[in-house]
Amino acid sequence: MRKIIRPVNSLQGEIEVPGDKSISHRALIIGAMSSGKMSIFNLASGQDCLSTINCLENLGIKIQKEKDRVEVNGRGLFGFQEPQNVLDAGNSGTAIRVLCGVLAGQSFYSVVTGDDSLRNRPMKRVIEPLQKMGAEIYGRSNNQLAPIAILGKKLNSIEYTIPVPSAQVKTALILAGLLTSDRTTLHENIPTRDHTERMLKYLGIDIASQNGNLVVSGQSEIKSKDIFVPGDISSAIYFIGASLLVENSHIKIKNVGLNPGRIGALRVLKRMGAKIEIKTLKDINCEPVGEIEVKTSDLKGTEILSGEIPSLIDEVPLLAVLACLAEGKTIIKGAQELRVKETDRLKAIASELNKLGANIKELPDGLEITGPTRLKGALVQSFGDHRMAMALSIAGVVAQKETVIENSAVVDVSFPNFFEILDSLNKS
Ligand code: S3P
Repeated sequence: MRKIIRPVNSLQGEIEVPGDKSISHRALIIGAMSSGKMSIFNLASGQDCLSTINCLENLGIKIQKEKDRVEVNGRGLFGFQEPQNVLDAGNSGTAIRVLCGVLAGQSFYSVVTGDDSLRNRPMKRVIEPLQKMGAEIYGRSNNQLAPIAILGKKLNSIEYTIPVPSAQVKTALILAGLLTSDRTTLHENIPTRDHTERMLKYLGIDIASQNGNLVVSGQSEIKSKDIFVPGDISSAIYFIGASLLVENSHIKIKNVGLNPGRIGALRVLKRMGAKIEIKTLKDINCEPVGEIEVKTSDLKGTEILSGEIPSLIDEVPLLAVLACLAEGKTIIKGAQELRVKETDRLKAIASELNKLGANIKELPDGLEITGPTRLKGALVQSFGDHRMAMALSIAGVVAQKETVIENSAVVDVSFPNFFEILDSLNKS
């Protein structure tokens, strides 16, 4: 499907965005590992979480889906059943990597794979530490790639420094740690999102984490409790970005997650001169939730270095669009992880935004963007990457004339009603 995006004159209104995808995956998987029924409210609506639901159902977990509520019937830490077929994680890195941690400690054989994109993403980062825990887990191409085959067994705890900053790997190892009978200690060089730690604390698990060091012990049970998923800041960011750029704009996004490990992009935008007001209003299941108000702003370039990258990793495509319109140079470094996302995002950002008239130089580990440039309409590719499709749509909103986005339907991976919400804000 191709989407035509036309320039917009003003964005106004109050919106909510779908539930946070990271928190949703964790709620589903931890809910399945817990004892009893867990109701999850406002679960992320995209295809990625449906892939997790599908894998869990094939592992014997009953899940009821209603409009605003999903009920997971947890079967306990070791209550999963051997799947009759290969598990399909679709496009979701979180689903495949986190499930590896859980499956490695069950007492059966399973195979997990995904779509063309996922089968080309690095899996050694999760296979290797799980092997150190005693798991029998193997991947294609010398343990680099999915499909991943797992012969589950009793795991040992480890002390391990996670070499690549990855909340998915950290989560897989925390959940595997719960299946051992001892204490697992993990170190992160750069802290990554801590949704798993917060959710387990909320569920009463003793998990100590500070400054990238984390200790968790083997458990006999997780008692289930209901979870409310706040709106996804990684989805909200596209409307924040569009409202900063489009003249006469003023929007409010309500009920959005404001976890400090996820709002690096907001910190960067403030530094760029953005008029953004962030209000934390409450804490729900140990996650800060609030609202964000945004007004049209003049932006200036900035430097984003490696220490900040995990807190804004998924927001780089959108930040790059904003940098094109900002005064001066923006440099993004230490972002080599973007090369192994749903597509090589550094390459895709540079090639597609340059087609729209941007001045972007691709660096081995980042981007150098010189602004301001007047973007013009063009035909651009999403490369089957939901975040590329959404970031290019925002570029289209501020470009002159029409922008056509190839394979725009891929927004369904994380945000099926993205285009409707964008339309609802358009007051041109
Ligand atoms: C995620 C962690 C990040 C992020 C991804 C979701 C998570 O990936 O890019 O969209 O839910 O833990 P990495 O763990 O590969 O950095």
